[in-house]
Amino acid sequence: MLLKKVDSCGARFHMEFDFSSVSELDWFGGNAAISHWFDAYTLLVPENEAFYIRTLKHLVRSASPDEKRLLRTFFGQEARHGEAHRLYAHRMNEMGLATAPFVELANGIFYGALEPIQPIGLRMATVAAIEHVNAFMAHIILSKDMFRNAHRDVRRLFYWHFAEEIEHKCVAHDFLVRDRPSYYLRAFGGLIGFSAFFLASITGMCFLLAQRKRLFTRKTLSELKAFWIDEGVLKESIRHLASYFAPNFDPRDLSDSALVDQVRGMLLEEC
Ligand SMILES: [Fe+2]
Ligand SMILES: [Fe+2]
Repeated sequence: MLLKKVDSCGARFHMEFDFSSVSELDWFGGNAAISHWFDAYTLLVPENEAFYIRTLKHLVRSASPDEKRLLRTFFGQEARHGEAHRLYAHRMNEMGLATAPFVELANGIFYGALEPIQPIGLRMATVAAIEHVNAFMAHIILSKDMFRNAHRDVRRLFYWHFAEEIEHKCVAHDFLVRDRPSYYLRAFGGLIGFSAFFLASITGMCFLLAQRKRLFTRKTLSELKAFWIDEGVLKESIRHLASYFAPNFDPRDLSDSALVDQVRGMLLEEC
């Protein structure tokens, strides 16, 4: 794996990934349920990031030079997230997991059926909402170093991705509130985006666990409890989800730029 520090339009890190050394399906410290929770995230990322880019692309035409630069950085980061997670999804297939039925179902519903009937304002609000989920999940996971026992190469994929999610967490929100300054639109987008994210992630996790006949086991329950309850992720997630519905919500209220620098320092050191 190669990590280079670059300076291109604010996208400071370029990473190349090789997942050939990942040979355990339970790469999250032996926790199958949480490994597959993040595997489901991986499977959703490529089309999800492409959806963000399609949705915000129209803004480029009327953007100022600074805004253009911001949007290009955002598009570049999201496109690279898609490529990197697609590579890891391929490794999941090599390790014997079937992924196509879930990916085709999710993409068919979200981008085949729902996207074409959503007006552009609602699509922008949906993107802003899912970006909030990405940013607060990134904050929780990076601040607690929750992948500390995960396989090194998968940890680096997620930490690299999450650092960039924090870095660009204001982009979709800022364009939404400037161009469509309606609280109700933002809140409705929140309901759609949050429901879609958690419904799709839970479905994907269950689909992968079912392949291993570990869907309804006591071990799976205790694995879910360890992450969501014992580590406090559920409680913090609910707090962050609720904060989105405050009329004066601003992603900047959660200050975590120092966290991004710290994680990037760690990634560089491990290189
Ligand atoms: Fe992303
Ligand atoms: Fe993002």
